[in-house]
Amino acid sequence: MDPTKPVDGAVQATGDNGARGDAALSVRGLVKTFEVGGGWLGGEKGEVSAVADVSFDIGFGRTLGLVGESGCGKSTTARCILRLIEPTSGDVVLQRPIDDGTTERIDIIASGRADLRRLRRHMQIVFQDPFASLNPRMSVGQALREPLKVHTSMPRSEQDTRVGELMRLVGLNPRLVDRYPHEFSGGQRQRIGVARALAFDPGFLVLDEPVSALDVSIQAQVLNLLDELQQELGLTYLFIAHDLAVVRHVCDDIAVMYLGKIVERTSAERLFDESMHPYTHALLSAVPVPDPEQERGRLRILLEGDVPSPLNPPSGCRFHTRCHVGRDQEVCRSHEPPLEEVSEGHWVACHFPEARQVV
Ligand SMILES: Nc1ncnc2c1ncn2[C@@H]1O[C@H](COP(=O)(O)OP(=O)(O)OP(=O)(O)O)[C@@H](O)[C@H]1O
Ligand SMILES: [Mg+2]
Repeated sequence: MDPTKPVDGAVQATGDNGARGDAALSVRGLVKTFEVGGGWLGGEKGEVSAVADVSFDIGFGRTLGLVGESGCGKSTTARCILRLIEPTSGDVVLQRPIDDGTTERIDIIASGRADLRRLRRHMQIVFQDPFASLNPRMSVGQALREPLKVHTSMPRSEQDTRVGELMRLVGLNPRLVDRYPHEFSGGQRQRIGVARALAFDPGFLVLDEPVSALDVSIQAQVLNLLDELQQELGLTYLFIAHDLAVVRHVCDDIAVMYLGKIVERTSAERLFDESMHPYTHALLSAVPVPDPEQERGRLRILLEGDVPSPLNPPSGCRFHTRCHVGRDQEVCRSHEPPLEEVSEGHWVACHFPEARQVV
């Protein structure tokens, strides 16, 4: 298959939407609705609209940042992509270069149970809290050996060699192989989390807030490691974060999410220089600037109120209840703005987009 040709099916299913045919990962029209209440715990029956028609592509070896406030659906999007939970609808296609120089196209949603087991080797996730995702009773060697034992028939000596390789790859001394998670620092534990995700040489990694639980000084080390690994292994990343400051230097492109929807998507550079959605402006105005002079004179946009419940999202534009532009506009209350390409490679879902430099 020619990787430069559009990924058919998935792309055509929901029309264009910023598609690049040579993407490592293509997501189209992803929807996840949770049924809640009415069970033995009681509560009113309802539907949580956690992910509502999300589409994006990530090119080979590139990083897309998915950013938004807590509860906007970032992790649910990632879990649906990896089929850790079942999406309600949508298409997800992973493309993978294979040894003969061609590209394998994997329809993730159509994959059966056996295919999914194989897929786990190609796409993996690193979680926010490295301590919670490691078994305290397993040494680092055991934790890294476990997936090799479960998914391969590798003899023990080869497993040990691979564990040593993985530890070196993430900057850990293989002599620490018999130590337990509590004997490592937060940054080292996250390195173990990354090593475990790399066990089978995956091409695509979801990084779900990988540095949010770490001290700022350690964050930079882990971000540098992720960057080096990407260069060395040609990895493609979906990088989830709740604030824009973290993603600025690590992402090629950024998608901003609000209440289950992508409201703006463009290159990281353009998002910081000329973002167009009022929600992006508000997120950017919260990014700290090192220069106090510049900090004093800059635009501040405070978001009022809490994020509305996804159980009953606002009509029209989901952001209108907190938007300083759209709060009083009838069109924002009644009509949902589609995600449209306002200039090449810049997608915005807003009735009143306005280019601003906030940072
Ligand atoms: N299993 C579930 N059942 C019902 N609702 C759920 C379930 N999982 C997630 N949700 C809801 O879906 C919405 C999106 O949750 P999600 O965890 O994807 O958000 P997030 O953007 O990752 O937030 P955070 O930044 O806090 O990690 C939230 O309102 C959450 O309460
Ligand atoms: Mg999350």
